[in-house]
Amino acid sequence: MADYVYVLLLFAVQVLANSDDSFLPKVKTVFSSGNSSVPIVLWWTGSLFPHFQGDSATINCGRGSCLATKDKGKLQNPMTRGIIFYGTDFRADESPLPRQPHHEWALLHEESPMNNYILSHNPTMRMFNHTATFRRESDFPLTSLPIQSLDHLTARKPVPLTEKNRLRDSEGLASVLYVQSHCNVASDRDRYVKELMKYIKIDSYGECLNNKKLPNEELEDTLTMHHPDFLTFISRYKFHLAFENAICDDYMTEKLFRPLHVGSVPIYWGSSKARDWMPNDQSIIMMEDFESPQKLAEFITAVDQDDEEYLKYLKFKEEGVTNQFLIDHMMNRMWHDDEVGNGDFITSFECYVCDKVNERMEAESRHNEDPTFPSPVPHFGSYNHMGCPAPDVSYGDRSDVSVTEDFYMWPEDFWQSFEQAMALQQMIKVGEKDASKLFDYMREMRKKKRH
Ligand SMILES: *[C@@H]1O[C@H](CO)[C@@H](O)[C@H](O)[C@H]1NC(C)=O
Ligand SMILES: *[C@@H]1O[C@H](CO)[C@@H](O)[C@H](O)[C@H]1NC(C)=O
Repeated sequence: MADYVYVLLLFAVQVLANSDDSFLPKVKTVFSSGNSSVPIVLWWTGSLFPHFQGDSATINCGRGSCLATKDKGKLQNPMTRGIIFYGTDFRADESPLPRQPHHEWALLHEESPMNNYILSHNPTMRMFNHTATFRRESDFPLTSLPIQSLDHLTARKPVPLTEKNRLRDSEGLASVLYVQSHCNVASDRDRYVKELMKYIKIDSYGECLNNKKLPNEELEDTLTMHHPDFLTFISRYKFHLAFENAICDDYMTEKLFRPLHVGSVPIYWGSSKARDWMPNDQSIIMMEDFESPQKLAEFITAVDQDDEEYLKYLKFKEEGVTNQFLIDHMMNRMWHDDEVGNGDFITSFECYVCDKVNERMEAESRHNEDPTFPSPVPHFGSYNHMGCPAPDVSYGDRSDVSVTEDFYMWPEDFWQSFEQAMALQQMIKVGEKDASKLFDYMREMRKKKRH
């Protein structure tokens, strides 16, 4: 949630700060209205529309132009080919129906799977013709979004180890830091951390499992996580618990990359494949590698007490990034700057969709003129473009966890959203025009199942 708000804030700031032409994206936008001779790309999530005057803008991309718009009235326009959704805001009962054969749905979602579990299911992912998600398998992978640059990972010097050890031995600092204020989450991380705390001292500052107060009020306000004072404060800890709010392959956030930036060792739980994105092969401790919180605590303690071993985890700060996969990826990723409107991932994906739509229209007209040219084959997503497993308890046996616990809302949400996906699939199939009938379709499907 917080990340989403952050993106929107970034937008607002950009709008306020740049009302003149100097801010216009490299992709030049021209404001227009009325009919379009170019394909239309419709932002179904209007709040993310990345152009700041009016409802529509002509965008010039690699393979041609499109009219980008947030005017939902354009849905029935025959030139409307691309429809872009922001994953967190995708609602099956507000989807653009009836779905025409030439409607190419495009999904943009870099946030947590728990924000909208309907996207974790195969039937949903197959509805999207173009995908930009945290999964490397998506068409326009956003996996490395939380990595600003390789330099950002390596440039900042860690607090010297002698100082970190002094803080631990003389100032009573724990070796392990936990800062989390979103407590009831799909990964159920607090249950595990609570157990881990039985075996190793952890300073916990956020609202979850809080056992320590920040030294002053000013710092309290810096819990926005991006503040320099906050980074300085957390950099004094040798290890950071970096547990994601939901578990899915390639879903990683700044929780993982912030400790690397400040020079602390992440103890990570989230994507099982996180190692693929690390600066080298020894810069992270993976919680999953340990059979119990106790075993993990024993390992952390051993590394904490062995200076030579600890420093191995920070070697990348001197030697730089040696993971060739990461280096190649950062060079070739499909967007560039963070700045909105200047090659950022949102406008870059908009152009990607525009290009795909133009490409297909060209291929179609070529085929119509000369049938020896093959007609373009359908393209759409699948489970591995963003599918995620059902939420489960983080520690212990599910049967030992009382059914009244808040945690259960997550699996319930997950399975309810699966029913929604099935109902939406059916609605598309029969050409339903009214998306708000979703719940009627769900009722029907349940009835049939019972019979
Ligand atoms: C756009 O085209 C539609 C038919 O394709 C027509 O009914 C409408 O009047 C046109 N609008 C403008 C502004 O030209
Ligand atoms: C878009 O995806 C759907 C599957 O949901 C598919 O039937 C359709 O052919 C795809 N369209 C294109 C243009 O590839």
